[in-house]
Amino acid sequence: MNIEGLIARANEEATVVSSQEPDWQREANQRGLWAPARALLGSIRAYQRHAASSNRLARIPRMIAVLRHRFWSAVTGADIPLNCRLGGGLLLPHPNGVVIHPGAVVGPNCLIFQQVTIGAGTTPGLPRIGGHVDIGAGAKILGGVTIGDHAKIGANAVVLQDVPAGATAVGIPARLLHPDATLPAKIAA
Ligand SMILES: CC(C)(COP(=O)(O)OP(=O)(O)OC[C@H]1O[C@@H](n2cnc3c(N)ncnc32)[C@H](O)[C@@H]1OP(=O)(O)O)[C@@H](O)C(=O)NCCC(=O)NCCS
Repeated sequence: MNIEGLIARANEEATVVSSQEPDWQREANQRGLWAPARALLGSIRAYQRHAASSNRLARIPRMIAVLRHRFWSAVTGADIPLNCRLGGGLLLPHPNGVVIHPGAVVGPNCLIFQQVTIGAGTTPGLPRIGGHVDIGAGAKILGGVTIGDHAKIGANAVVLQDVPAGATAVGIPARLLHPDATLPAKIAA
């Protein structure tokens, strides 16, 4: 795709999906549908809701959330700890093999495909992922890197450096596609 096409697509997506306001519908569990990723996320959300409660009775639903989390972690094969800092509206279409360090930060409305690792690397710190970032299958984001809003990480990329807002990074180590392209107005703002 040429640069104009990329910018037009990024502008369109930035208008449709917010990098700031979580769209909780993206996580909503639909009755009767087999959706292990949503069930796993639901257990994490429930745990964090009840962990924040000062009500002593909240211990019971919190324990239930822990059990639900263990069950769905085993089903999905994902390692997403209960204390992960995940923005709302997270999509995990195929949660198998997804590993997220609890110290990493994932912004609202992100999309994470299978076998993605977000964790420690050789550089100090942990990844900070912006809002509405799409992370392709098998990608690894390692160390104290910052991924800007609306960025895209290609399948199997190994990201060891910051990725600016709206940019696309691919390869090992990841490089920016079209690094000289002017950022779309909505993203740069
Ligand atoms: C990174 C991605 C978003 C780029 O999409 P795009 O902007 O439409 O880019 P294009 O397809 O036009 O490719 C642009 C260039 O990047 C290269 N490229 C694209 N994806 C790549 C990847 N994952 N790794 C390495 N290079 C890649 C292309 O070969 C092309 O190179 P060229 O300019 O030398 O010909 C997309 O390729 C991708 O990896 N998406 C993840 C999809 C995924 O994980 N799906 C899982 C489904 S279960």
